[in-house]
Amino acid sequence: MALRPVLQFPDPRLKRRSLAVAEITDEIRELAQDMIDVMYDEPGIGLAAPQVGEAIRLVVMDMDWTDEEGEKSPRVIVNPEILEREGSITWSEGCLSVPDFQSEVERAERVRVRYTDLDGNEFTEECEELRAVCFQHEVDHLDGVLFIDRISRLKRSLYAKRRKKMLKLEEEEGGAQSGAV
Ligand code: NI
Repeated sequence: MALRPVLQFPDPRLKRRSLAVAEITDEIRELAQDMIDVMYDEPGIGLAAPQVGEAIRLVVMDMDWTDEEGEKSPRVIVNPEILEREGSITWSEGCLSVPDFQSEVERAERVRVRYTDLDGNEFTEECEELRAVCFQHEVDHLDGVLFIDRISRLKRSLYAKRRKKMLKLEEEEGGAQSGAV
């Protein structure tokens, strides 16, 4: 089956605030599996439901796996909440929904998070550094916030302009291709 496409900036669906998952249904389980497949295919270390067009508070993550090596151990995170934030850290971030761009973002260095899994078990955990950054990045997605909303206005507008040009080029190429068929 075809993988779900990842929505990309400036798709307005990425700006929506997502709703809590009220009940774990078969549809939610299927969506989580679809998201895991997309995450490994891209590849990425995390993916939030709004990135595949579903405005619900569901995230998948696997920070121990890379394209090259490592065991896959995907985690499905339902209704994550950040309970506490501490310290600050600057990390170079990228996002599957923000093509061809990376930038340093300042976030909390340590966070305490609460979420449930697909069986309804509740977890509270403390995480730091990459894990903390990833949690904050993904929860941002659920609130309609992209990492480029957390960089300077100048950097963001330069990227937005470049992205516009990229899209125009893609459109022109697409047009030429369809014209040739
Ligand atoms: Ni992202």
